[in-house]
Amino acid sequence: MITIIGSGRVGSSAAAIIGIMKLDNKILLVDIVKGLPQGEALDLNHMSSILGLDVEYMGSNDYRDMEGSDLVIVTAGLARKPGMTREQLLEANAKIVSEIGREIRKYAKDSVVILTTNPLDAMTYVMWKATGFPRERVIGFSGVLDAGRLAYYAAKKLGVSPSSILPIVLGQHGESMFPVPSKSFIHGVPLTRLLTEEQIREVTEETVKAGAKITELRGFSSNWAPGAGLAVMAEAVKRDTRRSLIASVVLQGEYGVRDIPVEVPIVLGRSGVVKVLEVELTPGELQSFMQSVEAVKKLVSSIPPNLL
Ligand code: 2OP
Repeated sequence: MITIIGSGRVGSSAAAIIGIMKLDNKILLVDIVKGLPQGEALDLNHMSSILGLDVEYMGSNDYRDMEGSDLVIVTAGLARKPGMTREQLLEANAKIVSEIGREIRKYAKDSVVILTTNPLDAMTYVMWKATGFPRERVIGFSGVLDAGRLAYYAAKKLGVSPSSILPIVLGQHGESMFPVPSKSFIHGVPLTRLLTEEQIREVTEETVKAGAKITELRGFSSNWAPGAGLAVMAEAVKRDTRRSLIASVVLQGEYGVRDIPVEVPIVLGRSGVVKVLEVELTPGELQSFMQSVEAVKKLVSSIPPNLL
């Protein structure tokens, strides 16, 4: 069974796409709002019926129902409003993530946890502490999103399919995010060889500001691309595909960083993180990466200690 905690737009989009991909025949939606997960589950069951998926959705306000889940996706928490940064959500969301982490430890102690709550990397830290799980089983989502955006904007300029690009974004899922065009390749050719410096600047800026742009345009933050990215990660876990992708994981010596989660390339499988890949960076790139790590460190150090 897959459990999705949080029945807002991201949770619902992920539930729909995961069902359509038939990654499990039982999907549980949990939310604290009475009626919301039950209503979503009913609507999704009708979708399942129409599409002939044979996937059963269930809705609950009780964390105990996640017992037996091998994968728990956490999308709960406040989302940013127009003009807000992800970092401004820290305190309110740390409390929510910490509470949910303790429930996961109680009822789904062998699960792999993927979370989307912002500020993402700091919340990955809170979840890691609250569950007490090894870092391999607590994974922050969003690298797939940032990398997907980098591929999209670069592909548009190049007139190629985004799927031809293997994009790399490192560091924080936040203001100091670090897209790395020199290490993002189309069949061995880096984007820096295919785009002008000006184009690279544009693509980088579009990638970093993509989430805020969506929020400005429509008044609420992204959900379809996060839903799709979560489904890709869920597929790697449920089918043990061992696909490489970008995600936020607690580094334990990689890149010379310890006990801080940031986005890096990983290999993902049934047991969670199978491998952390260390991209070779130039001294200048390493400096940008470390600035991003420092930004996450600062956020982590401002998490109220009673939540850790
Ligand atoms: C985004 O980048 C909401 O952080 C999310 O769209």
